[in-house]
Amino acid sequence: MEPVVWPPRTRRIRTYRNIVIDGACNLRCTYCEVKAIKVDQVATNASLDKIFERYEPGNTLFRVESNGEIALYPKILDHLQRRAAEGWHIEVLSNGTRLPRCLEGRENLMWVFSVDGHTARMNAKRGLSQEQVDRIVDTAVELDAELQMVYHDQSLEEVNEFIDLLSSRNYKGLLHFMPLLAFKGRPLTVNLRYEDLHPAEFLAPSEYFRRWNHIFETGKRDAVCDQISNGYNYSVSDDRIEMVKCDCYSVPKHLYHDFGDVREFDNWPCGTCIANQEFNNSRPRMQVPEGRITLPLV
Ligand SMILES: C[S@@+](CC[C@H](N)C(=O)[O-])C[C@H]1O[C@@H](n2cnc3c(N)ncnc32)[C@H](O)[C@@H]1O
Ligand code: SF4
Ligand code: SF4
Repeated sequence: MEPVVWPPRTRRIRTYRNIVIDGACNLRCTYCEVKAIKVDQVATNASLDKIFERYEPGNTLFRVESNGEIALYPKILDHLQRRAAEGWHIEVLSNGTRLPRCLEGRENLMWVFSVDGHTARMNAKRGLSQEQVDRIVDTAVELDAELQMVYHDQSLEEVNEFIDLLSSRNYKGLLHFMPLLAFKGRPLTVNLRYEDLHPAEFLAPSEYFRRWNHIFETGKRDAVCDQISNGYNYSVSDDRIEMVKCDCYSVPKHLYHDFGDVREFDNWPCGTCIANQEFNNSRPRMQVPEGRITLPLV
């Protein structure tokens, strides 16, 4: 048994806020639905500022993404870069098709890229070429960007080859697998066990996979996701901002509310959702560096 250390080490984490911008996409991933939409980038930036204003830069991590592809909107990325240069902690989720151009002049942003493996075959549902996949993986290794992979029909051998490739390149980011989501509380159709994966520092904690396996086997969840303990979503459509507690794909419409204060709930209709929110608080980007706060003198 490990020796008991007293007082226990406490870790401070950032407040997590996810901003999802209504947008169009240049890909047609077979598992995703996108809409044709026109985005007013100036109005969107004003909405982003209205949200930022309610928080303190050092204490909050914003994940900004689109329900289409955010890199199609350079004025929004430039605006986020300006805010990040002022000290805001901002990560951006992208499909990686605008690499490397989307990085230029945006060195203060942190990145998360979606990619379903290291080969074009594994990415057939995303329609990516091998060249595009290589560019995403190279960038992730270079920038310690996080990778988000939808697990659908890739074989375990392919998944482990991907892990081995990243290990061999000394990848220091985070490779996050999420199941092809079953909407409206339907059962999950895919399962991935931590024990079957080649060990690597950059994998999600084993507890994440335990929860996934449990939901797959029983159709029920037995744990509370980090979005409940520390998370809130903003949905931005030009100058309209709505809010919702959770970051699931099929949040019932009536659970959204107008822009204002966050609301807390004593229950939430979670269904079979399982994704990165499950272990969000443990991500390195969520940690506030230690030593900033000293004990008060009495
Ligand atoms: C809707 S996309 C938007 C951001 C950006 N276009 C991208 O692909 O990263 C957000 C994330 O959801 C994932 N996704 C889309 N459809 C999904 C599904 N049916 N099940 C699980 N994940 C899905 C995507 O791969 C991506 O990582
Ligand atoms: S790139 Fe993202 S938004 Fe576009 S179709 Fe694929 S998953 Fe959907
Ligand atoms: S539905 Fe999913 S994201 Fe939303 S609170 Fe429940 S587990 Fe978390």
